[in-house]
Amino acid sequence: MTTHMNKIAILPGDGIGPEIMAQAVRVLEALGESFEMERAEVGGAGYAAHGHPLPEATLKLAKEADAVLFGAVGDYKYDTLERALRPEQAILGLRRELGLFANLRPAILYPELAGASTLKPEVVSGLDILIIRELTGDIYFGKPRGVRECPDGPFQGQREGFDTMRYAEGEIRRIAHVAFQAAQKRDRRVTSVDKANVLETFQFWRDIVTEVHKDYPDVALEHMYVDNAAMQLVRAPKKFDVIVTGNMFGDILSDAAAMLTGSIGMLPSASLDANNKGLYEPSHGSAPDIAGQGIANPLATILSAAMMLRFSLGKAEQADRVEAAVKQVLAQGLRTADIFEEGTTRVSTEQMGDAVVKALG
Ligand code: IPM
Ligand code: MG
Repeated sequence: MTTHMNKIAILPGDGIGPEIMAQAVRVLEALGESFEMERAEVGGAGYAAHGHPLPEATLKLAKEADAVLFGAVGDYKYDTLERALRPEQAILGLRRELGLFANLRPAILYPELAGASTLKPEVVSGLDILIIRELTGDIYFGKPRGVRECPDGPFQGQREGFDTMRYAEGEIRRIAHVAFQAAQKRDRRVTSVDKANVLETFQFWRDIVTEVHKDYPDVALEHMYVDNAAMQLVRAPKKFDVIVTGNMFGDILSDAAAMLTGSIGMLPSASLDANNKGLYEPSHGSAPDIAGQGIANPLATILSAAMMLRFSLGKAEQADRVEAAVKQVLAQGLRTADIFEEGTTRVSTEQMGDAVVKALG
């Protein structure tokens, strides 16, 4: 019998990316599985090494691997590059090229960290919501886009910037299915967030989500305008279970949701294709201001590795082990700077990795 050895593409990226990735790799190595892990440069590091944020070799590796573990990209150094060469293009290119249309961003408040939120503990304690963001459509990828001569109106003849918001029926259907199926494993409630009162694209979104819902009579569906959703997220976030929305609204709402927990350094994410192949990355960015100091929180990347084990590699038990180890180190009072509070023990990036490896037993 031949067993397929899982191949994982390791893309550390920029800023704190390499430091947090090193700890996630150690945790994976400590599981006693034989993974084939191969590294490649991405983002600013890709540009520095190969002249492009998503070098060909990196894309090839990501395509042939069973899963991609991604650190973070972006650094001030690259802010002046033309858009096509900026680090962010790497993640946008990977999403498009790998067809990663379903972005799962859980926002969970660990009871040990209730004090880290800027909201009152009673508003957020026990928070457990899942934002499902469509990731390959909408105004992010719609064409045409660019800068042109303004064709009409009071500014006719001047230059204008423009983008195209659009969603095909099939794109809405498949993300709606992902949301309803995720809800079936949770509290069976989906809030679909749109702007149907103003935008044609999102009236259409609402109609299609309503149609797909007929296949899921066991799940409750509500529709909410995005401005109201932003308000409800800070007013009464625990009322949500699964939120499904488009690419642009999901970008904004998922940052707000992450911050409710007060510890964006704790939140993993998964971006999946139609076959559950995925790219896994922390919800936080590359934090170039603290890079190289050994103070970044590696737990979001470690928890992203756990999501990878569960969704793409079929190793749910190992995922449970990693998540239990993370809970254990929090219960032991170990904290990196971002989640440090009086009475807890401040540890470095590497010490946090050590503790998780140790807790795996
Ligand atoms: C995110 C990020 C990206 C996005 C950027 C880096 C292109 O903000 O993953 O949420 O806008 O999708
Ligand atoms: Mg974002």
